[in-house]
Amino acid sequence: MSTTQVASEARQHRTVREGHPDRRRMVRFDWSDTPLHWVPGDPFSTHMVNVLHLLLPAGERWFIGVVTEAKPFVKDPEVLESIGPFVQQESWHAWAHAMVLEHLAAQGIDSEPFTKALEQWFERTGSPKPGWPKALQRWWLHRRLADVAAIEHFTAVLGQWVIKNRGLDYAGADPLMLDLLRWHGAEEVEHRSLVFDVYQDLSGSYLQRCLAMAFVAPSLLAWWLRGVRYLMAHDPTSPGRPGWRDWLRAARQYRVPGPWMLVVTTPLRYMRPRHHPSTEASSELAQQYLAESPAAQRAREAAGSAAGGPADGPGA
Ligand SMILES: [Fe+2]
Ligand SMILES: [Fe+2]
Repeated sequence: MSTTQVASEARQHRTVREGHPDRRRMVRFDWSDTPLHWVPGDPFSTHMVNVLHLLLPAGERWFIGVVTEAKPFVKDPEVLESIGPFVQQESWHAWAHAMVLEHLAAQGIDSEPFTKALEQWFERTGSPKPGWPKALQRWWLHRRLADVAAIEHFTAVLGQWVIKNRGLDYAGADPLMLDLLRWHGAEEVEHRSLVFDVYQDLSGSYLQRCLAMAFVAPSLLAWWLRGVRYLMAHDPTSPGRPGWRDWLRAARQYRVPGPWMLVVTTPLRYMRPRHHPSTEASSELAQQYLAESPAAQRAREAAGSAAGGPADGPGA
């Protein structure tokens, strides 16, 4: 038996904690038939959700960097073992969303100026500080981990939201895009506790957790609104400027998450002293979706038929 097969068997037989991932699913999508407004007749909802394609590739690569930096300091062996599959899942998510950006570019929306600005922001607010004293570097790592844990709270909540809500189905949204969103959402629910547990293992400060959410929630909202304005402004069909009424209307139709959920209830739940992500969403619901997702089914078949098991990277 090869080393890869032994490692894969060991992974299959290890105990995976609630809210931790055990493996990635190498899903692929062919976007050639997906229309520009994949929510028919609703450019606002289309672009409000498209913002995720702008934010996630840079965001998830940043999560991977922070968690990888924290890995040597993790003491809990179960948490440590789940970091590998977490990194694999997030890197596949980043790649899958980046593919949609190429499709948007082919349809006339160049996202590069926006994603460059976002990467520069991550560089300014979240890069390592190797020149700092050791104690400050450690605090800086804890601060960034707390930020990633807070964002992972949003991704789990949004993941559960997109799996459960039927507003986009009723609107006749492109099934491929829905599958991408729900596959990603389901894996976010599946690994929702990992970064929180890494943070608890390294720091666990309740004050820092709350401060992180106080920083992350308005930042996320600001980037989201900036993203939807950017996409609407660069849409070749000139759908006009997005407004608050558009958001409230789309939220009422369950096509996008509403401002109340995004700005108030989700951050407040995270600030409960006894909060733990394992109580936030349903692993069962996520696994149920992953069992029926067309893309995940294709990935399972491809992995089953590939000689030597799954390959190692998104480009493989
Ligand atoms: Fe992700
Ligand atoms: Fe995640």
